[in-house]
Amino acid sequence: MKRVLVLNGPNLGRLGSREPEVYGSATLADLSAACREVATDLGLEADVRQTDDESELVGWLHEAADGDIPVVLNPAAFTHYSYALRDACAALTAPLVEVHLTNPAAREEFRHTSVVAGVATGSITGFGLDSYRLALRAVAAAAP
Ligand code: DQA
Repeated sequence: MKRVLVLNGPNLGRLGSREPEVYGSATLADLSAACREVATDLGLEADVRQTDDESELVGWLHEAADGDIPVVLNPAAFTHYSYALRDACAALTAPLVEVHLTNPAAREEFRHTSVVAGVATGSITGFGLDSYRLALRAVAAAAP
């Protein structure tokens, strides 16, 4: 079964209690279960991870590059300023889908820039957990 890494950046481990009026009530465990369920339906295996640590996230992207593994990535706040993350994304060989629960373009000015978008295959934002479900569909369609 084709593996896909679903990588989540800082503060996403606090979903459910973190600003629920912005991010909703679903927890990271809910997100993970939703991804694994959709992935199974699509014939994929979702390996869902979260870290608050930039170097750990970069390491997981290196793992994806070395293994030619597709990635669904919510870089969280790193989206807006981490060139280290962008460079690691640029070295990926399989599809990369950037996802966000919210629509950063409709929020504060500093969220309008994504340093990752330009090296992603595509981006899906603003649909809550459905952003991830749609991203997994895109991966299944793109990755033979
Ligand atoms: C986010 C949007 C980012 O701006 C923010 O820093 C996050 C979550 C989202 O999924 O909507 O942590 O990536």
